[in-house]
Amino acid sequence: MSKPVIWISRTLSAATLERARRDYDVIWDAADAPGSAEDIIAMSAKVDGMIPCHSEHFSADVVANLDPRLKIVANHSVGVDHCDLPALRAKSIIVTNTPGVLSDATAELAVMLMLGAARHAVAGDRFVRSGEWDFWSPALLVGKQVTGARLGIIGMGGVGRAFAHKMRGFDMKIHYHNRNRLSPEDEAGAIYHENLNDLLAVSDFLSLHCPATPETIGLMNAARLARLPKGCVIVNTARGNLIDEAALLNAFETQHIGAAGLDCFVSEPGGNPDFARHENIMMMPHVGSATGKTRDAMGFKALDNLDAFFRGDIPPDQL
Ligand code: 8YV
Repeated sequence: MSKPVIWISRTLSAATLERARRDYDVIWDAADAPGSAEDIIAMSAKVDGMIPCHSEHFSADVVANLDPRLKIVANHSVGVDHCDLPALRAKSIIVTNTPGVLSDATAELAVMLMLGAARHAVAGDRFVRSGEWDFWSPALLVGKQVTGARLGIIGMGGVGRAFAHKMRGFDMKIHYHNRNRLSPEDEAGAIYHENLNDLLAVSDFLSLHCPATPETIGLMNAARLARLPKGCVIVNTARGNLIDEAALLNAFETQHIGAAGLDCFVSEPGGNPDFARHENIMMMPHVGSATGKTRDAMGFKALDNLDAFFRGDIPPDQL
């Protein structure tokens, strides 16, 4: 029997590509360019399934033009804001994602960004690297202490909980806001704030871990940023559009926000060039889940979902 044909849009891990080629007829281009709307539509007539990344956008317009041959979109991501889910559902195309396996890697990057932002990592690195370091003082690069401070987390899914777990190691007092209160076991002593404004008021540090949905896009607007304690450090490893970037820049100008660690931006790739004016904003190019171990796990999870579907089972991560 011939193997199903799948399109892998980007350069997934070597182990993922190897396993995919063993079990499927794989279309993959080593050029590693993001798939355009035209690419996605053209590919849908050639394949039975796809493994896209968040760089391929399945908008309503794209989905309307998909060929009926395409049966499953097995995302290589936990976030699915690049997919118009109702439109895909209306065409009976199965959609899956990769929850759980990237929580630790993404939480690790959030730890790095939080510590780096709090302790002037960007300015300090530049000072030493440039050869300009010709002076020392007890007043040099004085940062904000993490140990014992209050950490506000918005979104206590897999990544939010993994981040809370790691920051308990810094004796932080964990507060959170989530659509639903967690079980006492998952809460592990974290304080739930049903009202987001109540969480913001106690967040010396704030980290975003919720998906981008119509309800959360623009969540951190000027009014909500103003509710944070002065000097708050904000971390975002979730989605760029959760933060109103103009409002954040303004909060830096007025020094209401002390520092930020950002792995995602409204415009990607590229980010926001205005952020580069502030050395107390530490930035990374959307690489929260980019560890070798996690890339393998994400690729394997996407393949597990395809395998289940082509066996005739319900994929474990079907949305
Ligand atoms: C990925 C992500 O790097 O999983 C997500 O939602 O944003 C990142 O972990 C990316 O989507 C890879 O496909």
